[in-house]
Amino acid sequence: MKRATRAVFALLATAGVSQVVAAECVDSPGNVLQVCVFAENGGAYYEVTRKGHPVLQRAALGLAFEGEKAPRVVVAGTAQRASRDSTWEQPWGEERHIRDRHNEMRVSLRGDTQNTSAFDVVVRAFDDGFGFRYDFMGIPAGRAVAIADELTEFKPVGAYDAWWFQAYEKERDEYLYQRTPLDRITKAETPLTLESSQLYLSIHEAALIDYASMTLERTAPGTLKADLMPWSDGIKVRRTGPFQTPWRTVLVSETAAGLADSRLTLNLNEPNRLGDVSWAKPAKYVGIWWEMHLNRSTWGSGPKHGATTANTKRYIDFAAKYGFDGVLVEGWNTGWDGDWIANGAGFSFTKSYPDFDLAEVTSYARSKGVSLIGHNETAGAIQNYESQMEAGFRQYAKYGVHSIKTGYVKPNGTIQRITPDGAAHNEWFAGQYLVRHHQLVAETAARYRIAIDAHEPVKDTGLRRTWPNLMSREGARGQEFNAWGDPTNPPEHVVILPLTRLLAGPMDFTPGIFDITEGGKPSVAKRVQSTLANQLALYVVIYSPLHMAADLPENYEKHLDAFQFIRDVPTDWERSRTLDAKIGDYIVVARQERGGRDWYLGALTDEQARTLTVSLDFLDPQARYEAQIYRDGANADYRTRPVAYQIERRSARAGDRLTLKLAPGGGTAIRFRALQ
Ligand code: NOJ
Repeated sequence: MKRATRAVFALLATAGVSQVVAAECVDSPGNVLQVCVFAENGGAYYEVTRKGHPVLQRAALGLAFEGEKAPRVVVAGTAQRASRDSTWEQPWGEERHIRDRHNEMRVSLRGDTQNTSAFDVVVRAFDDGFGFRYDFMGIPAGRAVAIADELTEFKPVGAYDAWWFQAYEKERDEYLYQRTPLDRITKAETPLTLESSQLYLSIHEAALIDYASMTLERTAPGTLKADLMPWSDGIKVRRTGPFQTPWRTVLVSETAAGLADSRLTLNLNEPNRLGDVSWAKPAKYVGIWWEMHLNRSTWGSGPKHGATTANTKRYIDFAAKYGFDGVLVEGWNTGWDGDWIANGAGFSFTKSYPDFDLAEVTSYARSKGVSLIGHNETAGAIQNYESQMEAGFRQYAKYGVHSIKTGYVKPNGTIQRITPDGAAHNEWFAGQYLVRHHQLVAETAARYRIAIDAHEPVKDTGLRRTWPNLMSREGARGQEFNAWGDPTNPPEHVVILPLTRLLAGPMDFTPGIFDITEGGKPSVAKRVQSTLANQLALYVVIYSPLHMAADLPENYEKHLDAFQFIRDVPTDWERSRTLDAKIGDYIVVARQERGGRDWYLGALTDEQARTLTVSLDFLDPQARYEAQIYRDGANADYRTRPVAYQIERRSARAGDRLTLKLAPGGGTAIRFRALQ
């Protein structure tokens, strides 16, 4: 193994002019990637090659501080180096054992301002990507600093298309993705997936702690710059010394599937800090939810109130009968009446509506072996939530509720923060204020042994490794848009998500709608745009340790044979493999049940019918399997015959090739049941 243990003189192509500059370089363990850091004319830069070919050209590094001039920096001394090759175990996850194999390089820089007088750029090179962070260990303990700007840039070499949506819009991260040349980006959320004819890149961040979320601004041709979501006064980040920034990460793969199977983001987070987290359990759940989104019942009080004791018991009975772990109840607590998005400060997190009895439903659930999943919609009224959070969690824990869905429905940029002088400030949904808030929720919940499933969240950056009670989150257009979205999610949405949003981490998409026309809606663009078999395949393709069976109980009882797949599919995995993927067209994913021998496969297509051939190499060569195949029926089509499905059983073994026929908007879901 070649290890770069020295400073090298690299030939760097600087603005088209080749010149020799002293650079510190680190190779990935398999010599796939090389990352070089250097200083030149007062600026710090990095560049990256893959198998000797440039991938990212010379791009800026560093931070600028409020009250200081732009720093001029030089490299100070030789870099420190370290290597790691270890395997760690997730308490739950898409992969039980994760290998962390990287080479690290720490380059010390000296700037000519007070705050930049001594800081490091720490780089970790993996074969499938790299990360770097700034370590401002030179800022004395307790000195308050304000970051005015992060200078980090990303400059991909070559012609890339980007899969992106506009950051800073009203609905946060809940937008449809568009594919455009990279230079059409204005400001994009991460993970940002870039596709060229040769390579796929995903730019993101890891370990976002007490910092602002990073979006990417296109500042010059081929140049994306870190754009930190600011506080309302324009400051990007407030910290006291010493501190480290989150990791800036880039996955680099020859295939789209390779992006999905990278574990780099998790590897760049710190190990579990919570110890025994056996109470944070992967689960499948049903709940009082879709009926509100279809407007058949209400969150608020009145004749159509959904979260009544009687209705909750009905869902508990259903969950118990069909083997579900949990029942989500939304709208049980007071505060929903009127315009709850505008009046979030009126939410109580302990007081029930009179027709809902928390003690009674939780004891009923317990008697049936089912857990209640709590719900805290905050409507972005952070201070109201923080003032009641402890009491709310205490009450939930007292009644045996160990999993809570949270919500932050509020137009982006209007989260109110009232300072002690009484002044109101409007904050973004993922600035440092909200990043700190979500951290507080995670840590407080952990003390009550409560797991969190956050909707309208700050994006995932792999913190579930450190706080495994951060189980799932939304952070994209989920199923709810198929009830009231205008338009609803087009078929291609679910074959874009796995190679964009899902690269960040699990998503509580809430799959499983069987009544595709939602009671006979005439317009395809106003309802679920998929086949029923596609809804089944989502349980495998979209990774989430918490998966909902989102439809109404009566709709499942009409298709109990297809419902069997949702009952069987696990939410915790031994290993996961993306077998084939073309972003926006199709994807095939296989996962093996954790601690079991069965495998599951999900295949999805966009609006095009497709025939895919998959090789069953992933199966155990010693075993024989029964493949239980749930596929689109003849002539199935998400527009005209969305519910047509067929279930077939056949034998299967490693090495077989399987042909999957997917209808327009269709999919296939398979359970490979090990026979011996
Ligand atoms: C938006 C969430 O995504 C959805 O699941 C929830 O039902 C509503 N907010 C109400 O909290």
